[in-house]
Amino acid sequence: MERTFIILKADCLLRGMIGEVISRFEKKGLKIVAVKMMKLDDEILNKHYAHHAGKPFFKRLVEFMVLAPVVCLVLEGKGAVSVVRKMSGVTNSREAEPGTIRGDLSLSMQSNIIHASDSLETAKKEIKLYFKDGELFNYDLPIYKFQYANDELE
Ligand code: CMP
Repeated sequence: MERTFIILKADCLLRGMIGEVISRFEKKGLKIVAVKMMKLDDEILNKHYAHHAGKPFFKRLVEFMVLAPVVCLVLEGKGAVSVVRKMSGVTNSREAEPGTIRGDLSLSMQSNIIHASDSLETAKKEIKLYFKDGELFNYDLPIYKFQYANDELE
């Protein structure tokens, strides 16, 4: 099963939306493999957002990401990376479709509630950056046999 990484950002925590967002992923059937509340710093953000370094919004983005603690999760499921990206909606919340997390809960490009890995390769890197091996949990969800067809579980 595929794993992806999300950050519930400062605006999500400060607006009291952590439960709302996690609940959407639970209802979808994604398995929570890891959860951690963290205060981010320049060191981890420079690595995480290295591809945005030098862009006009970079300094503002880092300031926003350290405004309050964030909640990081690893979610598991069939096609988890693309499912979670679709559920999150496009980066600019004003353009995000209704029904998506950003489309329903935010009006901002920067304060857009959630970060979600954009590919399987990125997810692997981001999970390693934020979590130690022992912080990821393997456990059975008996409900999987009702959630997926047999061939989807192979
Ligand atoms: P995220 O998916 O975490 O990836 C980079 C973040 O930078 C993005 O969500 C936004 O929070 C923030 N951001 C602010 N301005 C921009 C912009 N002009 N383009 C892309 N991302 C932006």
